[in-house]
Amino acid sequence: MILKKKIMITLEDAIAKINKGIQDINYPEQPSRLYNPIAYLLAQKGKKIRPALTLLAYNLYKEDIDESLDAALAWEIYHNFTLMHDDLMDNADVRRGEPSVHKKWNDNTAILSGDAMFLLAFKFISKYRGDVLPELLDLFNKTTQEIFEGQEYDMQFEDRLDVVEDEYIKMIRLKTAVMIASCLKTGAIIANASEEDQNSLYEFGINLGLAFQIQDDILDTYGDQAVFGKNIGGDILCNKKTYLLVSALNTNNKALKKELLQWLEINDNPKEKIKAVTSIYDKLNVIDIARSKMEEFYAKSIWELNKVNVDDDRKDVIKTLAEELMNRKS
Ligand code: IPE
Ligand code: IPE
Ligand code: MG
Ligand code: MG
Ligand code: MG
Repeated sequence: MILKKKIMITLEDAIAKINKGIQDINYPEQPSRLYNPIAYLLAQKGKKIRPALTLLAYNLYKEDIDESLDAALAWEIYHNFTLMHDDLMDNADVRRGEPSVHKKWNDNTAILSGDAMFLLAFKFISKYRGDVLPELLDLFNKTTQEIFEGQEYDMQFEDRLDVVEDEYIKMIRLKTAVMIASCLKTGAIIANASEEDQNSLYEFGINLGLAFQIQDDILDTYGDQAVFGKNIGGDILCNKKTYLLVSALNTNNKALKKELLQWLEINDNPKEKIKAVTSIYDKLNVIDIARSKMEEFYAKSIWELNKVNVDDDRKDVIKTLAEELMNRKS
């Protein structure tokens, strides 16, 4: 009997394919101020986890992963579009250790080049044909609407002091988790996976995404700037309702809460504000509360992944990636 060996792609190979795909994108020459920022952002060293998840989800079912490459690229372009606008909205000057687009160029450029990236992502997803196209477009449209809603809640929450945990979770589900979930579901749709599997992969992505955003919140205060690539304390400066801040505001320690509320009013002393708020977080040990919440979502994500109806060893690469993300520093 001849055993047909199944060739699974490694994470490194998946990322190499994505990088090559990004390099091969052709932009119109003019107007260069519209297209150069796109190439600039995409050439940076992002983790590429979203497109990798599309390729890996496809590879759970099929070997010819190039079939899912355009969709993977669509999501990476899309993700970078959201970052270009997000940095402007969050007043964040550094991304992946380099000046963000609105800093290197200007606000209008970040807006318009971001819009052009959104269109570019749409063009990549529209390359598919046949039965999968309507499904992919439905997912793309639904996800877009949810991300925009999430970003709006994220901004509104900056001006509120009464954001509760459930609202925070709903907000990060929209701004972050649905994109990660959709990347996985996209791979499954193109591979013609069962609806049941598509949904399990989606729920895996939702829970992984929730854990991922809590980790991002932790790193924004406790990370190493050189490795994380974003300014540490950026969230503190805009009173962003991160998991850390929501937990801290929920404390029973009246003295520390009072002190925290006073610092939230202060906008003219960034260095001191970051130091003082971080020290309040330290005293309340909110990092441990955040980590345990992150672990809870991670455990739930693995439980969802286990439901997917393919041989366990086919899930190894995705599982390792998920595990690595929980220990990430960048
Ligand atoms: C940043 O995502 C945006 C969040 C949802 C926190 P990543 O941390 O995946 O960014 P890159 O692409 O690896 O830089
Ligand atoms: C990520 O939110 C969500 C989107 C960009 C849609 P953040 O604002 O936390 O992302 P970073 O920290 O700037 O990468
Ligand atoms: Mg943001
Ligand atoms: Mg941001
Ligand atoms: Mg962040």
